[in-house]
Amino acid sequence: MRMVDLIAKKRRGEAHTHAEIDFIISGYVNGSIPDYQMSAWMMAVCWQGMEEDEVSRLTFDMMNSGDVVDLSDLPGVKVDKHSTGGVGDTTTLVIAPLVAACGGTVAKMSGRGLGHTGGTLDKLEAVPGVCVEKEIEEFKDIVRKNGLCVIGQSGNLVPADKLMYALRDVTGTVESIPLIASSIMSKKLAAGTDAIVLDVKTGSGAFMQTVEDARRLSETMVRIGNSLGRRTVAIITDMDQPLGMAIGNGLEVKEAIDVLSGRVSESDPLYQVCMLLASNMLKLAGLAADDGDAEAQLTDALKEGRGLKKLQDMLTALGAEDAGAVIADPECLCKVKQKVPVTLDGEGYISAMYAADIGNAAQMLGAGRAEKTDVIDPAVGLVMHKRMGEYVAAGEPIATMYVNDGSRLDGAIAALKGAIKLGKDKPAAAPMVHGIVQ
Ligand code: URA
Ligand code: CA
Repeated sequence: MRMVDLIAKKRRGEAHTHAEIDFIISGYVNGSIPDYQMSAWMMAVCWQGMEEDEVSRLTFDMMNSGDVVDLSDLPGVKVDKHSTGGVGDTTTLVIAPLVAACGGTVAKMSGRGLGHTGGTLDKLEAVPGVCVEKEIEEFKDIVRKNGLCVIGQSGNLVPADKLMYALRDVTGTVESIPLIASSIMSKKLAAGTDAIVLDVKTGSGAFMQTVEDARRLSETMVRIGNSLGRRTVAIITDMDQPLGMAIGNGLEVKEAIDVLSGRVSESDPLYQVCMLLASNMLKLAGLAADDGDAEAQLTDALKEGRGLKKLQDMLTALGAEDAGAVIADPECLCKVKQKVPVTLDGEGYISAMYAADIGNAAQMLGAGRAEKTDVIDPAVGLVMHKRMGEYVAAGEPIATMYVNDGSRLDGAIAALKGAIKLGKDKPAAAPMVHGIVQ
């Protein structure tokens, strides 16, 4: 087999055999296929796409390019959740404890934030003492004891994705549904879970800017998961505005604790998306018969403080110095030199928000990274006071910034102000959930 022939075949829009895809992935990972041929092939995939069976094989080969975690000796159905990335998306810190409190087994590997999106690992590390780098056996011990654990990627998982993603980033080949779907699913599958709930974001703050693209990505990922023997559901949710009101690491941990403490209204979008994702996790794990049953179990766990207790136990297991103090007073994670209210020019209803730019404003304050090596300040960020469609009076603060290093404050304020548009008329309410794909 020759790579040049396979590139030409994909350029013509023909489907590969399993043997051909095996040849491409093993050849690229072992170095016998050079970057220039791999980029040409990925560009052909961008234009011509892949059939269902090709994407499944690609994902299977990527998953098997490195270590595959074996969770089979843990009790229960292992159920994971993955978000395609958003702003103010602190759902994992709410859902993982709630699902564990209802009998689910959540053994999850999460990522760090980059650019305008946040990452669960950075949020966990906002709690003093927490260390998210654990060996697999210690990770499994924590899950066995508490029903949940969230850590960083351990071992050599999916080296094919690391190589391909770095190449896609510099060759204009990120935006391809087969390549995105196989990248995400190979990592989830290698992490050893039995069932996966995908939160596919759409809107101004998301990878997939339209509902149609989000639906196509969802369908592709669900088919991959099911074809490789994992129960998979995708929920398409809105990212035209930040999901929660807090953006920043300590601030988002505080918001998650607020939800688990019953301090966030049931009509709040963050609360609703958390409940929907967690309900689907319970159903996939076989722990709930239907939505009504799942929601009743989750609401009980929340009201009885069992979700909060699970979060506390996990933080303690990850090394937190005093998880109880953080749970009792989460504001301690957000102590800053300066809190700066931000006002807009004029007044009116919020008619548009650019969630990515709001994330960028928080990043400029030190809550996120522009580059992988940047250091995060866990206490800084911003808290929004208004949502889409709400009225903002003249001089009324739209947000409060939590600031330690004021050197980029002006830029952050400008980014935030530019991210919010006011109009004379109240806009129609937009749905938070655009569909469920299963
Ligand atoms: N996230 C991933 O992990 N991979 C992609 O290709 C896109 C988003
Ligand atoms: Ca985007």
